[in-house]
Amino acid sequence: MTSTHGLPSSRSWSISMTRHRRAAATIAALVAVIVLLPSLTAAELTLNYYEKTCPKLEEIVSDVVITKQITNPTTAAGTLRLFFHDCVVGGCDASTFVSTNAFNKAERDADDNLSLPGDGFDAVIRAKTAVELQCPGVVSCADILALATRDLVTMVGGPYYHIRLGRKDALVSTAASVVGNLPSPNMTVDQLIGTFAKKGFTVQELVVLSGAHTVGFSHCSEFASRIYGYGGRGQNAFDPSMHPRYAAALQMACANYTKDPTIAAFNDLMTPGKFDNKYYQNLLRGMGLLASDNVLVTDERTRPYVQLYAANQTAFFNDFAHAMEKLSVLGVKTGSKGEIRRRCDEFNNLST
Ligand code: HEM
Repeated sequence: MTSTHGLPSSRSWSISMTRHRRAAATIAALVAVIVLLPSLTAAELTLNYYEKTCPKLEEIVSDVVITKQITNPTTAAGTLRLFFHDCVVGGCDASTFVSTNAFNKAERDADDNLSLPGDGFDAVIRAKTAVELQCPGVVSCADILALATRDLVTMVGGPYYHIRLGRKDALVSTAASVVGNLPSPNMTVDQLIGTFAKKGFTVQELVVLSGAHTVGFSHCSEFASRIYGYGGRGQNAFDPSMHPRYAAALQMACANYTKDPTIAAFNDLMTPGKFDNKYYQNLLRGMGLLASDNVLVTDERTRPYVQLYAANQTAFFNDFAHAMEKLSVLGVKTGSKGEIRRRCDEFNNLST
């Protein structure tokens, strides 16, 4: 039905508009469902999920991890990093705990995960054992990891935040799934922003989550290209954006790193074991350790947040707490999408 001008008549115009609107409404509904799906799953988590089935859960986990941190002070940093690596690869589902077997190379053995220290795994496995004694077969390793991380962050001076519970443990864990999901120290800011954006994090959240590098250490191989032979200008040439004395101290500390790859340096030289905003103050003074830390201060998009958090620890703590709550519900599995693993390092069905 066309008008004399070759345009649709007003009736067919309105029919086609109605069809258009219906189609648009259907597409909008579909988009809403797709966008809402991950958060619907996360919304199934609750603060009191184990109130009836394991009422002492939080107490048990914090007792175990606090003892572990006192005996092994590297536990907090190790667990925080482990949590990040677990969540950004397929969701917070303890998939990083599963051991490789003859049929499957698991996440833990992916190149990017080989440097995850044993302390974090050990803290969670000990907590799981203690929890199993009181409430067998009820609490997931994924929930224990989330609680342990929060407790350890708080214990070393960081902010407290709420952990909603009810995550199930993953039914799959493959080394291949790690590829392309984790940031690496030599990424450009664009690549870092892109890697975080893929997981739903903003530029500000990239900066605030990087504040986790206020604790722990990095092996020399992770920043060697910044302190030796930088720009092909001789063995002792270092990245000129580094504080010269800081670079010289790192050059000395790492002198033997090729022979002894275990040599490492503190991420935050000033207060290495304390969760505070010194990381950002260091960045402003050319004392960021990894290239990926340093670029946060050289790029215009990220520098304002570095300045904000360097000046205001309360802002850092508030934003870090929010970002950690967001990280802790990333891609969580509920219902039949996962299981409550009996042991964190094995699927219940060993043939999978
Ligand atoms: C922005 C991108 C990031 C990059 C490129 C990056 C890279 C690294 C690297 C290379 C190390 C040293 C590993 C080693 O030598 O053993 C490290 C350590 C660490 N990372 Fe990150 N990371 C990033 C973001 C994060 C985030 C978002 C968190 C947590 C929320 C985190 C937590 C940690 C912690 C706590 C350590 C110290 C681990 C320890 O002492 O055992 N990192 N990171």
